[in-house]
Amino acid sequence: MNHFIALKYFSQGEIEKLIDLAIKIKSNRSLYRDSLKGKSIGLIFEKPSLRTKTAFYIGAVQLGAEAIYYTPQEIKIGERESVGDIAGTFSVYLDAVVLRTFSHDTILEFAKLSKIPIVNALSDFFHPSQVLADILTIKEAKGDIKKLKIVYAGDGNNVCNSLIHAFSILGGNLTLSIPKGYGYGLKNKVLAEAKAQAEISGAKISFNPSLSEAAKGADVLYTDVWTSMGKESERKKRKKAFKNFQINDKILKAAKSDCIVMHCLPAHRGEEITDSVIDSKNSAVFKQAENRLHAAKAILVYLLKGNKADK
Ligand code: CP
Ligand code: NVA
Repeated sequence: MNHFIALKYFSQGEIEKLIDLAIKIKSNRSLYRDSLKGKSIGLIFEKPSLRTKTAFYIGAVQLGAEAIYYTPQEIKIGERESVGDIAGTFSVYLDAVVLRTFSHDTILEFAKLSKIPIVNALSDFFHPSQVLADILTIKEAKGDIKKLKIVYAGDGNNVCNSLIHAFSILGGNLTLSIPKGYGYGLKNKVLAEAKAQAEISGAKISFNPSLSEAAKGADVLYTDVWTSMGKESERKKRKKAFKNFQINDKILKAAKSDCIVMHCLPAHRGEEITDSVIDSKNSAVFKQAENRLHAAKAILVYLLKGNKADK
């Protein structure tokens, strides 16, 4: 069964194919209008969502499919009923499930027990559909990502881990600027896997605890919140730990003058990014948000049409 759970399961060629498909879908919406006619897509989200929910829901509709969204209250994965019973039931009703969970293990278990494709719409470890759209955005703005210097500052979890996957597979120079103790998930498996991938792609993944140093000559400055969903009780502590990791005018000035500033959103303005930067001419945040839709459609077409995805 094909799933879309983490970018590490995809080869460079497969990621490039997905990006090309997203570009085609973006440039010719009507060509893909009936691609998923007769298909039904379920969306189950344990956490709030604006972009991901809209991108997959509206994306499915624009491809001719039906979409159904379940709130956390009605499904209660593992509480009202087991993951296996939900996966088994959806397998007889639906053609694909888009799933946002607290624990990545829930997605893995769901995928194991499902007879239909599962899409990871964000877990604590990974946010692959976000980063697929981000690669598209970087490619549109800057061309060959192998030649670029990308700096990431922000929480060291889902978006960060998926960026590590993407750059280690595709190439490029990714510097992570994250306070000590907040790169959870980074020091172990993700980095070891990235190292092996980077040897093939030529990617350079490094850490620099000084953001002002790291930002020098950057083509892309990427940030995410300091306090991810589910970590709200740590907000005060995190604000202190991350205070030197804000993307502000000084950091923007250190980067290349034509650098793009990226944020997956939602932003906590005044924390990880200032208004002056997120609203500046360098900001690509709404291009990223738009590309979420095209990337979501590409993922659905790729999973449900396989080799017939090409038009
Ligand atoms: N970037 C992103 O995933 O946004 P949402 O949480 O609003 O879906
Ligand atoms: N790291 C953030 C990403 C939101 C899209 C979170 O998990 O809340």
